[in-house]
Amino acid sequence: MRQHVNPLSSNFKQIEIIPSLSEMFGDSKLNLHLDIGCAAGEFLFDLALVNTSWNYLGIEIREKLVKNAKFKVFKREINNLYFVFGNANNILNDNQSKFIIKNIQSISFNFPDPWFKKRHYKRRVIQPDFINILSNSLQKGSLIFIKTDVKDLFDYMDWTILSNLSFKKIERKDFSYSESFNPNKVKTNREKYAIVNKLDIYERIYIKF
Ligand SMILES: C[S@@+](CC[C@H](N)C(=O)[O-])C[C@H]1O[C@@H](n2cnc3c(N)ncnc32)[C@H](O)[C@@H]1O
Repeated sequence: MRQHVNPLSSNFKQIEIIPSLSEMFGDSKLNLHLDIGCAAGEFLFDLALVNTSWNYLGIEIREKLVKNAKFKVFKREINNLYFVFGNANNILNDNQSKFIIKNIQSISFNFPDPWFKKRHYKRRVIQPDFINILSNSLQKGSLIFIKTDVKDLFDYMDWTILSNLSFKKIERKDFSYSESFNPNKVKTNREKYAIVNKLDIYERIYIKF
């Protein structure tokens, strides 16, 4: 099993600044979705190639994966997909990210690293301060999607998001995927693994109000 990267390591204090929308995308006016912890980005490639009316941005802490993903974007001349390397918490905490966050329609946290030991909970990507940063800059109506196969992590993320009183959950039966960032319900790599291995999947959608 792969060793998780410790996001609190000093290696990640220095960040890659998210460029402006027009530097990242061919058409900066399209809806924007952000996927946090996107690994090699396969999920975002699948989405970006089909849903050309959306822009997709992935943040990932493993540098090699981001380098390879950026190269693939360049080679295939995809102009609605961009990757940024680093700890998402530090990147989005930067002042220059505020403008980008304001332009985001939705954010996904798909199968984040669980960090099972209690003393490691602070390494989990969803933290109260981080949700606060998002709630301060996201527009009303923006969505957060969480998905995991670890019940304890799901409860922790759910509690953390709902403790910020700017978010409430949406019942999935009331949600229409057709207009979302993922109209065809494309699956992430971990999700495919969870399905094949018949693991339970816990997911929820929140709206900023
Ligand atoms: C279990 S993998 C899930 C990958 C993918 N989302 C999926 O569903 O298949 C979690 C990913 O999040 C990345 N990650 C963990 N903490 C992060 C952080 N603070 N900022 C950015 N990426 C992070 C890990 O390196 C890893 O690629």
